[in-house]
Amino acid sequence: MAENVERDIEVHWREEDYYEPPESFVKQANLNDPHIYEKMSLDNFPDCFTGYADLLDWFKPWDTVLDTSNPPFWRWFVGGRLNASYNCVDRHLPQHANKVAYYFVAEREEDPIVAVSYQELYARVNEFAALLRDYAGVKKGDRVTIHMPMVVELPVAMLACARLGAIHSVVFGGFSGQACADRIVDSESSVLVTIDGYYRNGKWLNHKEKADIAVKQAESQGQKVNHVLIFQRDPGHYGGSDLVEGRDVLVQELESKYRGARVEPESMPAEDPLFLMYTSGSTGKPKGIQHGTGGYLSYAAATTKYVLDVKPEDVYWCMADIGWITGHSYIVYGPLALGATSVLYEGGPTYPDAGRAWRIAERLNVNIFHTSPTAIRSLRQHGDDVPGRYNYHFKLMATVGEPIEPDVWRWYYNVVGKREAAVVDTWWQTETGGHLCSTVPALKAMKPGSAGPGLPGIHPVILDEEGNEVTPGSGEGGSICIRNPWPGIMQTIWKDPERFVRTYYGKYNKNPQSKDWRDWPYMAGDGAMQSQDGYIRILGRIDDVINVAGHRMGTKELESAVLQVPEVAEAAVVAAHDDIKGSIPEIYVSLHPGVEADDALNQKIVDAIVHDIGPIARPRKVWIVPDLPKTRSGKIMRRILASISDNREIGDVTTLSNPEVVETIHKLVRP
Ligand code: WT7
Repeated sequence: MAENVERDIEVHWREEDYYEPPESFVKQANLNDPHIYEKMSLDNFPDCFTGYADLLDWFKPWDTVLDTSNPPFWRWFVGGRLNASYNCVDRHLPQHANKVAYYFVAEREEDPIVAVSYQELYARVNEFAALLRDYAGVKKGDRVTIHMPMVVELPVAMLACARLGAIHSVVFGGFSGQACADRIVDSESSVLVTIDGYYRNGKWLNHKEKADIAVKQAESQGQKVNHVLIFQRDPGHYGGSDLVEGRDVLVQELESKYRGARVEPESMPAEDPLFLMYTSGSTGKPKGIQHGTGGYLSYAAATTKYVLDVKPEDVYWCMADIGWITGHSYIVYGPLALGATSVLYEGGPTYPDAGRAWRIAERLNVNIFHTSPTAIRSLRQHGDDVPGRYNYHFKLMATVGEPIEPDVWRWYYNVVGKREAAVVDTWWQTETGGHLCSTVPALKAMKPGSAGPGLPGIHPVILDEEGNEVTPGSGEGGSICIRNPWPGIMQTIWKDPERFVRTYYGKYNKNPQSKDWRDWPYMAGDGAMQSQDGYIRILGRIDDVINVAGHRMGTKELESAVLQVPEVAEAAVVAAHDDIKGSIPEIYVSLHPGVEADDALNQKIVDAIVHDIGPIARPRKVWIVPDLPKTRSGKIMRRILASISDNREIGDVTTLSNPEVVETIHKLVRP
């Protein structure tokens, strides 16, 4: 067991208190069948998942629910054909053309809210699909990189790709041009969709600048970008950097040409990829997580329906960014597949003040609210009385992305939810497509600090180093795995199937020849504990991934950015505790002989990180130290550095090759 996880077990809460879901919620819930867990038991696997696929419209039904002939490359609903854009848009038109798909709320509060109906979404998706196909030459199977903030044009671009059978790769808007370039190169995209700029915390951000860097860097790595398609945040006004002749085009200028265009949705085999989403792993190179069409969309729709309890009459608001998997599954694909009404908010959660979120909720009559522990902690900082000033009522509230401390959970439940709402703490990952552990809100009591048991059909198990099951209730932690495949599971890592097998199945698969899915537990990479009641408490990553404000970052990615600074000899990144963001990077570096440390060098190191990754990776501190603590075999002991950053007991250092440096660093950091 990784040492950081052992430490977490020590310091984490041990209480067991339960909150029953409100009766009013239970009565109306989408899923209140008490037998659902039996129905979705392993005895009924994999057929129990056909109900999920039945939530969609298929052009051709599947012949095989699950093909396990080539483990661990599971194939769901094989033989079936469908189109994600058709399922998210077209099929709602006969009954609900005029229903609101998205309320777009601009960050500037004085801007009117824009309601986009399913009919309007249909028109825009078709027009942009026509533009992609006829102007940019995008075909089925091509990859299209989309680097955009929270505007309606982002889901429009995604659905337009899906309509053509092209694979979108959305890059989080806050990522740097360099990070976008890396993803363009890996996915081999020759089209980039972007925007001139957007508003964040009251400031205009020129976003098109990043496209210029991205294209230049991508081309220097051999990937030519033929077309940069640029939306305008404020129609009629262009606020980005200069256009490059022949490469850049304003979508608006082509609009008249494609107005009214209609594009037949491609009939896609269920197992054709729908999108790539890059995420951080243990190495410096982000992995392109590849999701398929039929399984993914079924799972996103079903979990939106049964865990988030989204119904046709609800107004649902997920504050995540579409540039992460939460936004893909729970702002775009899940809610749209169900024909739901969602809020799409451009700005920061507390802009211009801590009442903003509640004003939006009140104004739009939002009754399902979805956010992260970091946002909750930051809202809590502004006081208990703010939510009470607004007249909104939530039936359900969700949290995702990081462990939520029980007292933060209680604040969410009591103060934000006014004790009226069911709360779900949903644990899952980019790789898993949708929720894995959570309470089913009408069926299970809530337990602050625990995500809950595996969802119906999901069978988690906690394994020790040797692969033995850790007994629930034993108080021991271990590595959380899922015994069985499920429809939302990723298909592979783009262009790197070996890394896929090694990363997620390498440790616990004992027989690589086995064709039995039971021999292939999926290893999530999180430490976890299970209590007697089956509830699971997530303790945090056990690999070199850190979680900053719910955003996943690879320590190796940060370190390689730092190592590009010529003065730096060695670098180690640690996740230090932060009261709001959960954790935040601190960087320890040693310099080449003869180099002097000064503020300018410090700044250069920070700049390198922001340049390579983006401001979300900005470290809290850069510590320039004479040497890094190492084992005799030369391994940098990040754990010791993390203990210093967090002012914890350092423990035994006698086995280090340079124990004296620990004292020196300690004096420097904590004088
Ligand atoms: C990692 C996945 C899931 C979508 C957003 C993040 C952590 C996620 C929880 C939770 C404790 C959580 C895990 C996981 N995580 N949800 N409810 N409680 N930890 O997706 O970027 O792929 O990150 O986020 O460590 O492995 P991601």
